[in-house]
Amino acid sequence: MYRNTPPTIHLKDYRPPEFLIDRVELRFELDAEVTRVEALLQMRRNPAATRGDGDLHLDGEQLELEHVAIDGRPLPPAEYRVESEALILHHVPDRFRLETRVRIHPMLNTALEGLYQSGTLLCTQCEAQGFRRITYFLDRPDVMACYTTTLVADKGRYPVLLANGNPAGTEDLGDGRHLARWEDPFPKPSYLFALVAGDLHEVADRFTTASGRDVALRLYVEPENHDKCDHAMRSLKKAMRWDEERYGREYDLDVYLIVAVGHFNMGAMENKGLNVFNAKYVLARPDTATDQDFLGIEGVIAHEYFHNWTGNRITCRDWFQLSLKEGFTVYRDQEFSADMGSRDVKRIADVRTLRARQFPEDAGPLAHPVRPESYIEINNFYTATVYEKGAELVRMQVLLLGPEVFRRATDLYFTRHDGAAVTIEDFVRCMEEASGRDLTQFMRWYSQAGTPELTVTDDWDAADGVYTLTFRQQTAPSANHPSLGPLHIPVAIGLLDGAGRDLPLRIAEDTAEPPSGTRVLELRREEATYRFVGLRARPVPSLLRGFSAPVRVRYDYSDDDLMFLMAHDSDGFNRWDAAQTLAQRLLLRLVAEPEAAVPEGFVAAFRRALTDHEADPALRAEVLKLPSEAHLGEQMAIVDVDGIHRAREGLKQAILAALRDEFRAAYEDHRDAGPYELTPAAIGRRALKNLALGYLMQDGDAEAVDLCTAQFEAGTNMTDVIAALGLLVDAGGAPAERALDTFYRRWSGDPLVLDKWFAVQAASKRPDALARVEALLGHEAFTLRNPNRLRSLVGVFCNLNPVRFHAADGAGYRFLGDRVLELDPLNPQMASRLLQALARWRCYDPDRQARMRAQLERILDAVELSKDVYEVASKTLG
Ligand code: ARG
Ligand code: ZN
Repeated sequence: MYRNTPPTIHLKDYRPPEFLIDRVELRFELDAEVTRVEALLQMRRNPAATRGDGDLHLDGEQLELEHVAIDGRPLPPAEYRVESEALILHHVPDRFRLETRVRIHPMLNTALEGLYQSGTLLCTQCEAQGFRRITYFLDRPDVMACYTTTLVADKGRYPVLLANGNPAGTEDLGDGRHLARWEDPFPKPSYLFALVAGDLHEVADRFTTASGRDVALRLYVEPENHDKCDHAMRSLKKAMRWDEERYGREYDLDVYLIVAVGHFNMGAMENKGLNVFNAKYVLARPDTATDQDFLGIEGVIAHEYFHNWTGNRITCRDWFQLSLKEGFTVYRDQEFSADMGSRDVKRIADVRTLRARQFPEDAGPLAHPVRPESYIEINNFYTATVYEKGAELVRMQVLLLGPEVFRRATDLYFTRHDGAAVTIEDFVRCMEEASGRDLTQFMRWYSQAGTPELTVTDDWDAADGVYTLTFRQQTAPSANHPSLGPLHIPVAIGLLDGAGRDLPLRIAEDTAEPPSGTRVLELRREEATYRFVGLRARPVPSLLRGFSAPVRVRYDYSDDDLMFLMAHDSDGFNRWDAAQTLAQRLLLRLVAEPEAAVPEGFVAAFRRALTDHEADPALRAEVLKLPSEAHLGEQMAIVDVDGIHRAREGLKQAILAALRDEFRAAYEDHRDAGPYELTPAAIGRRALKNLALGYLMQDGDAEAVDLCTAQFEAGTNMTDVIAALGLLVDAGGAPAERALDTFYRRWSGDPLVLDKWFAVQAASKRPDALARVEALLGHEAFTLRNPNRLRSLVGVFCNLNPVRFHAADGAGYRFLGDRVLELDPLNPQMASRLLQALARWRCYDPDRQARMRAQLERILDAVELSKDVYEVASKTLG
């Protein structure tokens, strides 16, 4: 059992820092085994803080202190105290210069927080609290300072030396070492500090800002990846232009640097002027990366770039405000991607993610509001709730204000708070002031955990031509999260006439001409009723268009209504959502009654969607993709693991039997005619073609296997290759083994492609998937120490292969328990992420519950546990 329960940090305990740091001068003598860090901090008492005991508490972890001095005077031992996570200086003056020197060990840093080694490179990750593993500091985001960084290192091993800000000179030290100096003129919190050293290939470009400033853009990659940078660089320039046009935001330094590293816990990091990226979000060539990889790169490059204003110039007062920068920046990158590609497809993908990751989180033991009230380990709060639900809260505010007023509000936010560390209230106040609206009730969204349910009922009065819609909202309270009262919910709706056209949305009380198309209703009370007048026949309602709020809608549509909306709704998102609801309903019926027939109407609706040559192939592919097993499980009180798998496989089979010719035709019609292109149209064609191939492979038909093998062997692009490989692996047998072997031999030298080889095997629906995954743990190319590799094998199996992970004998759970315990001493962040695959344990049958609980208890019993894993395990057990 965990003996010393780690402390919980509360938002209500926030106090301004007692000291401020005006200037930081850092000098690193870099070496993989022992690095020396000298820090010179210009400090003064914070006039805005209440006086404490006179001591100065600096954060520091795993540092070996060699020297400490104040104003040039080395401190005698009586004047300071070193603790495991702090350096405490007694009775310091009101204003002084603090000097420290520490030793750190990058090579031993397997947690990948602070300064660590990735391959032959040295790099840093400081968000949220990694800087305290580099030097003693006030490691909190409301302490902002200007930094100068000097890097000294061996010239041969580390020819490239990078840090934040603008370059300020280099020097050859004559002894085989060299030095580089960097100056960052913008005050920043310590979590945005970064350095990189290594033998890197540079890809250079330029960007001229709207006001005519010239910015040097540079991408740094390991030399063998020199030819995989074009897409990232193009994406960066598009993002820079978009932020100027849409938000009036220009870049501010002379250089913008991006480094791709092979070992990275998350996606990427927005360090000022020096972004450090997981290589997965930089490197791409058509033969190595899928369409989804290309889109992911565009989105993440943009995300980190947008942080320069939403996160860096304006940062968070404390970590409870994380969504201030993450929610807003995710919203910004979603809109950027929507503008670059297809808006409806992007919205569908984002809502899929929200429903697949955030809704379950919000319904389980780790539920927390977008602005959490407490945490044990902040790294556990980089969640779908803070990021994706946070983005939805910003999106709702845009809808409430309208785009022009929202732009005025963000202009106000940027001018008012530039250079400051602020709160979510500060953001929302700008929305209020620019619009003159009162968002007091809206603020509840930030504090209320759980997904609200919106129950909709209606009534048609034929005599008066009045259609009435009643909305009832409810957010299930849980032990830790009481209900705060009704939320302010924008609900975009339309009403369709019998021919599928949008009707005017006239409400009895209207004074102005009503919109015909979409109308946004603003719910504020538990229950609200709207009477739409002047109608000739009962309309079909299109509810929550564009997914205008992160809620679940309950409305009793008939199957016919859903098919009608699928075919006619002017809202592209709702056409897709109607199809999803229809398929979900049928699948849940098939789970309960395996012998139930697939209605003719359902097959006809799918046929129409598949053969509608007017419609965008990308959208057709989305419509024809059945809801995932995990999503279906979320709709059940007790997840029927095997029943869901059987129903979904069976329905695919039935659809194939009815539409085999149509799938063959769709496959043929959507092959790339010319050379590979990365346009939204070409991406959509490949998506539909591979969806068709997926259905064709459903019954292991020999002709389909040949088609699949041919597509695999043609190898024109990774999208097609990996789609074919995944389907072959699911079908199993000799063709699968041959293809796996070919793929391995072709790509064993490329880590990111090799990750895909591990992932297709971990995701396989073959009954022996776990045995294979366990064997792969011993593969020469497998290591727990690389987060991408770990995610591609262990993460994919535990999160994306529900039927095998949740095998009734509990072998999947034991496998996870073993990995968490093995991983925790190495990389707590990764161990804690992995453990979250058990979060929904209470939604399974008693047998599975017991087996999952046993693993959680076994983990909690471990002698030494990180805060990360302790928090997740203890909260999950509840
Ligand atoms: N701020 C980064 C981003 O979203 C995420 C870094 C979080 N890292 C962490 N270890 N918690 O762009
Ligand atoms: Zn971010």
